[in-house]
Amino acid sequence: MGRLDDKVAVVTGSSRGLGEGIARRLAAEGAAVVCADVMDASEVAASLPVAPSGAGPKAVHLDVTDNGAVEEAMRAVADEYGRIDILANNAGVAQPICEIIDTPDDVIDKVFAVNVRGVINCSRAAARIMKENMWGRIINTASQTGKVAWQGWGIYSISKFAVVGLTQVMALEMAPYNVTVNAICPGTMFTDMTKTGFGMAAEMQGRVRDELLAEHIDGIPMKRLGTAEDIGAMAAFLASDDAKFTTGASLNLTGGEQVFF
Ligand SMILES: NC(=O)c1ccc[n+]([C@@H]2O[C@H](COP(=O)([O-])OP(=O)(O)OC[C@H]3O[C@@H](n4cnc5c(N)ncnc54)[C@H](O)[C@@H]3O)[C@@H](O)[C@H]2O)c1
Repeated sequence: MGRLDDKVAVVTGSSRGLGEGIARRLAAEGAAVVCADVMDASEVAASLPVAPSGAGPKAVHLDVTDNGAVEEAMRAVADEYGRIDILANNAGVAQPICEIIDTPDDVIDKVFAVNVRGVINCSRAAARIMKENMWGRIINTASQTGKVAWQGWGIYSISKFAVVGLTQVMALEMAPYNVTVNAICPGTMFTDMTKTGFGMAAEMQGRVRDELLAEHIDGIPMKRLGTAEDIGAMAAFLASDDAKFTTGASLNLTGGEQVFF
């Protein structure tokens, strides 16, 4: 028996990277997983196991910034699967490295649209359904940069501070309905986003990306990058009954890179 047998989960941003890791682990623990992404997530969904109930995984095209589409998609999942038990708000975008005073308007708008408004859109659409069922788990992928200022990634950092705040407020609002709301704050993880970020930094400094990355890893107390499996494990814990009294928490997943609260 899996900890999440027959739970219905929606994982945003699950066509690759950390979202794929979350989708894989939730499915491995028995959940029927809907992979929602603006990119094609059908390969990931097709490779996930069917839940013990016989409910199959599926991919849906979803831009989390489109509130109408989000409302429609969450309702469609609830109609097809009977409910939504777990929402992992993982879709997110990064930014070019620059100080806040130099950040172009379109970058600010895009980062806030996906990382903040997108999380609000999905959370409230799913939370209304969870409230009806008096059970739910919302798991937000924030960041260590949502707890400490991250110079050069300022707008991104602010957007993740907002996710930590949203997690705390919604935890209070949803507690009476047996819906927990928590966040995971990853450090530097081994994904495309990290490779691109270090690529930009290397170019600006006239350095070689992999050398820069190796130096960074050397500064991480556990001497490695986090993985999709690491976040999948933490998400499965937060989704399970083992975490039924945990709400409003923003848990570090950093190998020691960030240990502050
Ligand atoms: N990689 C890291 O080191 C790191 C660290 C801390 C936090 N995070 C956060 O983890 C999450 C996943 O990051 P990742 O490294 O796997 O990045 P990634 O770029 O590999 O994956 C992001 C996913 O989000 C999807 N996405 C982007 N915009 C979307 C939209 N509007 N609607 C729906 N889906 C959308 C993308 O298509 C992609 O599948 C993000 O929220 C990111 O901010 C990453």
